[in-house]
Parts: sequence; structure tokens; C-alpha cells
Amino acid sequence: MKIIDGKALAETMQEKLKNRVDKLKGKGIQPGLAVILLGENPASQVYVRNKERVAAKLGLKSEIVRLPDTISEAELLDLIESYNNDISWHGLLVQLPLPPHISEEKVLLAISPEKDVDGFHPINMGKLWSGSPLMIPSTPAGIMEMFRAYGVELSGKKAVVIGRSNIVGKPMAQLLMMANATVTIAHSRTENLSELTRSADILVVAIGQDRFIKAEDVKAGAVVIDVGMNRDENGKLHGDVDFEQVKEVAGLLTPVPGGVGPMTITMLMEQTIRAAETSMK
Ligand code: GUN
Repeated sequence: MKIIDGKALAETMQEKLKNRVDKLKGKGIQPGLAVILLGENPASQVYVRNKERVAAKLGLKSEIVRLPDTISEAELLDLIESYNNDISWHGLLVQLPLPPHISEEKVLLAISPEKDVDGFHPINMGKLWSGSPLMIPSTPAGIMEMFRAYGVELSGKKAVVIGRSNIVGKPMAQLLMMANATVTIAHSRTENLSELTRSADILVVAIGQDRFIKAEDVKAGAVVIDVGMNRDENGKLHGDVDFEQVKEVAGLLTPVPGGVGPMTITMLMEQTIRAAETSMK
């Protein structure tokens, strides 16, 4: 069994991204990423801080706009519009989840598709599903980079994605289909899930349940990608895959932490830099 080192791969990619940033700066453009964060959700705070740290490391301009979660929907939409119209920001995202009085659908629709580095706008989702992607959600984009870097053959293979979210499961399935895999999307209501996962050459797990996938759920030699981020009562981070068990069965496996997470942030930066490059054309 080989471990997919997401941290090392992210470092390698970030060095190349830094060169692209330097090139842009030489032409007088600094790629800019604006992140809007409402309220005090602890997980969101960590994610947003990590985005800011990597942006600074690569030489991007970044700003976290911290707002109270009592802000009105209209105020938030006005703020998004002001970032849409400011050419010094190439990427804009609103950290999810949002408080219940704000419509996620309205917020995602308000972000200019060209600046939507999360790829959550319906136009970007539609472009991905019709086969001509512009902005792609970062987590599945990062997983595709892992497959490329580790020479994982996808064409003709049986891929099972557990999780049907717009952020991970659905775009992951479409990217795998575009790479000619045969894809099944499973979720919390799927019957005979273990039988299905045991048939997978490629298994992507984004179900949000601590160490849910066990050795007996995995085919010998399979490629297993763990998108989970679950904290136990001691604050220790675990994936959706029981790493200690599954490492005895899988052919390739991502750890948590140090697997998908670092790649997700790297791809977010890549899309911001690409948006800045596109803005010059
Ligand atoms: N919340 C959890 N993951 C994400 C993400 O990738 N983007 C945003 N905007 N919010 C999130």
C-alpha cells in the first residue's frame, strides 16, 4: 500500500503557482482573493485562516471580510456586488454554511461566475456538467490532481463516490465521468452500501462520518480517497475512512490530515491565479 502525500503534492504545486504569481506581478497584476465570513463557526474560522495563510505564502492579495451573522441578506448581497465590480479582486467566495435567515441560493447566484473560485454558481455547475468547465469546486479538482500525480488510471474503471453534495460528491462524479470512469454516486440512504464500495476500483468518501469505511468495505488494491474531517472527543482529526484498517487492503490511500485538505486550498489558489491571468486577456 502506498500513501498519497497530499501535503507534499500541494507544496510542489504551490511552487509552480508562486512562479505564475510572480509573472503576473511583473505585469503589474497581483491576484486577489476576497473571502466573506459570517459569524463565529469554529470550523469556518479555521478554513478561512488557512486560505489566508496560503494566499499570503503565494504572494496573493487576500482579505477576510468578517461580518456579524446578524447582517441582513440585502447588505450581504450589496457587499458581494461591490466586490464583483472591483477589478482588483479576481476571486470571491462566501464561506458556507450561512445563517438561516440568508438564502444560500441567492448568495451563490450573486457572485460573478468569473470570480466564483469555489465553482458553486449555477452557471459554473452547469458548465461543468455540460462538459466545458470554467470554475471547478476545489476539493474534487484537487483529487483529480492527485490521480494525475500518482498515475491512477481512471478510464474504464469503476468509481464509487459516497456523498452527493454540490461541493464534493456531485462535481467529483462528473470529473470522474469526464475521465471515462464508470461512476456510481452513493449516499446515506444507499442500500447494500458495503457491497457497492467493495466493487469500486476508485472509492471517494465524503459522507461526514468518523472512520465509517472499514477494511471489509474496500476491494483489495483499490484507490481510496478520504474527504472526511471529523474531530473526536479529544480534538484529534479523523477521516471518513478507518485509515489503520483500510491501509492493509487499499493500493493507494489518502491520510487525514495531510491528504485532500492541502490540495483543496491549493486548487482554490490556482483558480484565483487563473482568474487573474484570464482578466488580462
Ligand atoms: N464550507 C465548507 N467547504 C467550503 C468551501 O469549499 N467553500 C466555501 N465557500 N464554504 C465551504
